[in-house]
Formats: sequence, structure tokens, C-alpha cells
Amino acid sequence: MSTRNELKLQAAAAALDFIEPGMVVGLGGGSTAALFVAQLGQALQNGRLRNIVGIPSAPVVGAFAQTHGVPLTDLERHPHIDVCVDGADEVSPQFDLIKGGGGLLTREKILAQASAELVIVVDEYKHADMLGQRWAVPVEVMAFGWTSQRDFMQELGARVVTARRHPDGTLYHTDQGNLILDAHFGPIPTPTDIAMALSVRAGVVEHGLFLGMTSKLITSYATGALAVTSPT
Ligand code: 5RP
Repeated sequence: MSTRNELKLQAAAAALDFIEPGMVVGLGGGSTAALFVAQLGQALQNGRLRNIVGIPSAPVVGAFAQTHGVPLTDLERHPHIDVCVDGADEVSPQFDLIKGGGGLLTREKILAQASAELVIVVDEYKHADMLGQRWAVPVEVMAFGWTSQRDFMQELGARVVTARRHPDGTLYHTDQGNLILDAHFGPIPTPTDIAMALSVRAGVVEHGLFLGMTSKLITSYATGALAVTSPT
């Protein structure tokens, strides 16, 4: 039986198969994406890959990539990303995702939308019959008027909406200086409706529903199996 970290590593390592020399690679956030970044750095060191540049989804991701020898660029210099590799908090049978457990959802979505391919790396425990089964939807909102966004999400059907906080109780701020509201909808039969409603709401910067964006899903299983699947 593999540990959770071993499962994440297995999925992350398999994403290297989608990286070719000369590519611009989007670097997602979270522990599984970090394992991919470390593998990418290793592949550059041992010569398996060359001429790769990465675009990090957060300063912390960029710093980590640099310690692993991954050269960095940005969207100004490289507006088109070949492949973005990222993790997810929850994956539906339709390949839709909840992301933002690490609070990086807005930049992660910008990278995903600038990418020709979005490769998602998860272990089997991220799979759910329906989005929202286990995870709240993280929503990045401007601090100005955030309580009205909380009320709006409750009107949309969220049972509980909590402002994300640090362990000391202070509000968590994103790299853009905004807040994250975690909206507990429970199972979401029609995520498009919620995504649309959030997208047109003033003060909502971005939400963690990544719908119709996954190109490839790499899942590692406790049995040792690995599956690479894609939407039809
Ligand atoms: C960060 C994310 C992460 O991809 C997501 O939280 C999964 O993280 P992990 O790989 O650590 O389980 O969306 O904003």
C-alpha cells in the first residue's frame, strides 16, 4: 500500500511524459504540483529534458521551482503556454474540478486558460461522484464588501460560507491582496449555474470551479495502478 505522498509522486512523475524539449510549462500550486516541479527540475538536471521554461502560479511556486533548477519566465514574455500541470482538490466524472485549496485559484486559472493543454495530477482520493461532495468551492473576492459576497453565495445555495483565515485567526490574503471565501454548497448537480452566477458578480475575482478545462487527467491508485484519461 502506498502512502498518500507516494501516490501524489507517482501521478506527478507521469506528467513528465507530456513535456517535450522547448516547451513553456505552466506550474500549478499545491503539494502534487510541487512534486511535478521537483521532477521537472530533475529531468532538466539529468538531461532527459532541455530548453524548458516554467511560469509559476505564485511567487512561492516560482521560488520552489528555482531551487529545483527550473528556469522561469512569465506570461508577458510567453503569453502562450504549451502544457500546464496542476493538482486539484476534487475531480468529477466529467473531468470538472474544484481547485483553490491552496488559495492560488485565480492565477492557476489564468495559466490554465493560457495553456494548450491542462494536465491534472491527482490520486484516487480526489475523485468524487459530484463536485462539492467533500470540498467547499473557494472563491476569491475583493475585501471591499466581502460580507455581501458571503450573503450572495448563501442565496445561491451555499449552506455555510467561511472567510479563510490563518491559524492565528487573521484573514488569509491571496497574492493579489484579496480574500478567499469557502462556500460549502454540498454536492453540486449543475456547477455551470453556480460558476456563471459567480462570474458575473461584482467583487468576485474568480472561483475555484474549473469546468471543461482538463485536457488530461492522471490518477494514481492505492493498488499501484496509474490511469491517464481525457474527456471525450
Ligand atoms: C491550489 C490548488 C491545488 O492544486 C489543490 O489544492 C491540490 O493540492 P494538493 O496537491 O496539495 O492536494 O488548487 O490552489
